[in-house]
Amino acid sequence: MKETNSLPTTTDPIGQNLIKVFSNVCFTFFVFSVLIFTVIAITYKPPDPWLETSNALTLAFTQVENATFKTDTSVISTGEDLVLAPAVSPSAMLITEDAIEKSEERVIGNLSSILDCDNGGVDIVNCSDPRVLFVIEKFNLKVFKSIVFLEYGVPVNGSKGNECDVSWKFRNKKEKSWRKYRDFRRFRIGFGENCSYVVTSAKGWHSGINARQPMRPRVGRRGHGLPRTQVYHDDQINDTIPVVGSDSTFRKGKYLYYSRGGDYCKGMNHFLWSFLCGLGEAQYLNRTFVMDLSICLAATYNPSNKDEEGKDFRYYFDFEHLKEVASIVDEDEFMKDWKKWDANHKRNIPVRKIRSHKITPMQLQKDKSTILWRQFDAPEPENYWYRVCEGKAAKHIQRPWHALWKSKRLMNIVSEISGRMDWDFDAVHVVRGEKAQNKELWPHLDSDTSPDNLLTKIKNMIQPWRNLYIATNEPFYNYFDKLRSQYKVHLLDDYKELWENTSEWYNETKTLNNGQPVEFDGYMRVAVDTEVLYRAKNRVETFYNLTSDCKDGVNTC
Ligand SMILES: *[C@@H]1O[C@H](CO)[C@@H](O)[C@H](O)[C@H]1NC(C)=O
Ligand SMILES: *[C@@H]1O[C@H](CO)[C@@H](O)[C@H](O)[C@H]1NC(C)=O
Ligand SMILES: *[C@@H]1O[C@H](CO)[C@@H](O)[C@H](O)[C@H]1NC(C)=O
Ligand SMILES: *[C@@H]1O[C@H](CO)[C@@H](O)[C@H](O)[C@H]1NC(C)=O
Ligand SMILES: *[C@@H]1O[C@H](CO)[C@@H](O)[C@H](O)[C@H]1NC(C)=O
Ligand SMILES: *[C@@H]1O[C@H](CO)[C@@H](O)[C@H](O)[C@H]1NC(C)=O
Ligand SMILES: *[C@@H]1O[C@H](CO)[C@@H](O)[C@H](O)[C@H]1NC(C)=O
Ligand SMILES: *[C@@H]1O[C@H](CO)[C@@H](O)[C@H](O)[C@H]1NC(C)=O
Ligand SMILES: *[C@@H]1O[C@H](CO)[C@@H](O)[C@H](O)[C@H]1NC(C)=O
Ligand SMILES: *[C@@H]1O[C@H](CO)[C@@H](O)[C@H](O)[C@H]1NC(C)=O
Repeated sequence: MKETNSLPTTTDPIGQNLIKVFSNVCFTFFVFSVLIFTVIAITYKPPDPWLETSNALTLAFTQVENATFKTDTSVISTGEDLVLAPAVSPSAMLITEDAIEKSEERVIGNLSSILDCDNGGVDIVNCSDPRVLFVIEKFNLKVFKSIVFLEYGVPVNGSKGNECDVSWKFRNKKEKSWRKYRDFRRFRIGFGENCSYVVTSAKGWHSGINARQPMRPRVGRRGHGLPRTQVYHDDQINDTIPVVGSDSTFRKGKYLYYSRGGDYCKGMNHFLWSFLCGLGEAQYLNRTFVMDLSICLAATYNPSNKDEEGKDFRYYFDFEHLKEVASIVDEDEFMKDWKKWDANHKRNIPVRKIRSHKITPMQLQKDKSTILWRQFDAPEPENYWYRVCEGKAAKHIQRPWHALWKSKRLMNIVSEISGRMDWDFDAVHVVRGEKAQNKELWPHLDSDTSPDNLLTKIKNMIQPWRNLYIATNEPFYNYFDKLRSQYKVHLLDDYKELWENTSEWYNETKTLNNGQPVEFDGYMRVAVDTEVLYRAKNRVETFYNLTSDCKDGVNTC
């Protein structure tokens, strides 16, 4: 009975415990922000994004007790960025030169019709002729070296007789997850030597609008592609919240439940470090982790400069992937089922409450209670989730980094940005923000990243007139104008329409948020900036290439 009475009424304890560590840092940010903003009258300062590898992150976080999470926030790394080898992808699915030639032999051998290019047929191309697709596939392989092609749809008519629209799924070679992205382009087809098809020109990213419809698998190709019965919904991201279901299924489960602790509204690094500790413990105990999908986003990442509660985990991370690789249940659903059970049954469900992080996961291994409920009521910093994974537990608990990928919706924006540059761009990461202001720890950073110095230095590293993507936390859009005399400069804000009110992202996140528009916040900005940066052909880093200051301040390198 007591257990039931003390059921929390709030619904989302999990994400909330994670965020406090950042606050200290944030406050400093905040002070600077106010200064800067007043001066340049910009209402919002993106945080200095983090550029940590998992190793650095682990180091920073293992000095746990007094962890300040002073990690670099200029880049956001998640599971897909940390794996060394790309996720498994059956090679049979890759469309390679070899595969094309094999199916070409097979298919063309049986084609009775000889191409007739003498009788003015140049203006009319039969897009469903398999030979058209072969030349397009070969053309793409030659032009887009940084892309892995996974499957093609059947070409359809473009707007003119000699144009064909084709869609395909692909993955950037730098993408470490198995997720697929879509492009559809318009090709102009002509005739080459010996009356064969050639691609005479190709339009840009998402230009083949007639092929935009969800594709059906191609008929008659077996050497590559997927079985023809399969239907794809690549645009459909299925991150619905799973439901536990019946009483008896609920009762059969074993759960690990973390109440909201001191981490709530701390920085995202803190959130991830704590969340993955909880999830790691659940996996160690073979239990389902009760997860709060509602996150409190710390002030640094918010244009409003205030902590904001009620952010959906799915805005930032790939919940579909998480569901697939880890056993989790949404806290709201869990609470509903728990209450229902206790209302319908004489005997309450067996619960063990754990009040201190000093009770280790190893001590809980033998516990048979249906619910293990860790409560985090002690004063800070005793109430951080990640404390559970300290000390001896650290040897047993693995944080499942691989379970955490960035949201596919954000990654679609990344794909769109890099796709519009045809994946042919270089990037420079310019860290400014609060570090540039702090002359004590970073004495040269500000001047080393001044417009004139940037131009001089980048000129030595990047060819003129390349596409140059600038990932930065510098809030002033025109700051990089000097570089425009030598490069085609691209900044995140040039792609605003990808998240503004006419975008797919806007529509989809709005649906997640019960019809309320979702703000494209600082954390999302950094996540997208980071991934575009990772996809560049040449990458110039602030702390190795632009300045001799150390990343973590004077004398740290
Ligand atoms: C954490 O800080 C407290 C108080 O400042 C200090 O007594 C303690 O030794 C510190 N712990 C570590 C691991 O540095
Ligand atoms: C070509 O035609 C022959 C005879 O109709 C058939 O047996 C063979 O499977 C066909 N090959 C392909 C690749 O369609
Ligand atoms: C186009 O090619 C397909 C496949 O070879 C063939 O079935 C179709 O009849 C052709 N259409 C025209 C108009 O030639
Ligand atoms: C595509 O264009 C050709 C030639 O213009 C035409 O014969 C054919 O019907 C068109 N196909 C579709 C699906 O509109
Ligand atoms: C065109 O045909 C000739 C003779 O059959 C051959 O030598 C040549 O390689 C062919 N050219 C192409 C581009 O296929
Ligand atoms: C989404 O995934 C859930 C399982 O997590 C499944 O039950 C549901 O049918 C899926 N929805 C769609 C539209 O595929
Ligand atoms: C969890 O399951 C695995 C395999 O089913 C087993 O080896 C392991 O001992 C289990 N751990 C606990 C804590 O029950
Ligand atoms: C989108 O926002 C613009 C201004 O930012 C506004 O004028 C327009 O009406 C909005 N459109 C919709 C569909 O909400
Ligand atoms: C977004 O939703 C509106 C209304 O439902 C629709 O008119 C619009 O086409 C959608 N935009 C995108 C890009 O999906
Ligand atoms: C940046 O510095 C690193 C380390 O010194 C070096 O390996 C890399 O080539 C440099 N990048 C460019 C674009 O020069």
